Amino acid sequence: LESAKQLVVGSLRFVPDFPIPGINFIDILPIFQNPVAFESLLEVLVLLIRERFGSQIPDVIVGLEARGFLFGPSLALRLDRAFVPVRKKGKMPGACKTVEYKKEYGKDEFQVQEGAIQPGQTCLIVDDIIATGGTAAAAGQLVELSDAKLMGYLFMIEITCLKGKALLGDKPIITLIEHDEEE
Ligand code: PRP
Ligand code: MG
Repeated sequence: LESAKQLVVGSLRFVPDFPIPGINFIDILPIFQNPVAFESLLEVLVLLIRERFGSQIPDVIVGLEARGFLFGPSLALRLDRAFVPVRKKGKMPGACKTVEYKKEYGKDEFQVQEGAIQPGQTCLIVDDIIATGGTAAAAGQLVELSDAKLMGYLFMIEITCLKGKALLGDKPIITLIEHDEEE
């Protein structure tokens, strides 16, 4: 587990002054360029999820556009569970539920298709990073608007100094890597 995690950590790339001066951006894309690192990521996330939920693995893995799409579907497949995307407004056909949210740099709207998550289904929200927590909290609202049961959140990386977890109430939160510096 520790060596798999180290491989993931070692695949992160830190980019100073992106997307704006003063931000030290964490680029997760090198993980996906290396199948061994990607494999390790999935292995370690599956382990953490099984550790937390035991035999009660949530029914639906809810991935957040865009970077939650990079590993959410693969993770769902490994767990033999459904994948449902939460997308920025206007990308999906049919009736959608919508919530507005504040991001680290700006404002946006998130949607989930009506009927994609069945009432009563248990859900785990997954994303690459939790910074201020606004993005994840908005996805949490969409799960609740779907009359589903939010079981918790999973992030590859937590920017601890921003204390985003405070926005997520008392739901279980799984994080692989804790990073104590502003993104
Ligand atoms: C980034 C990141 C998280 C979110 C975290 O997404 O992928 O989703 O910010 O920030 P928060 O905790 O402060 O809300 P972003 O909206 O920049 O775009 P992307 O995933 O579409 O690249
Ligand atoms: Mg994102």
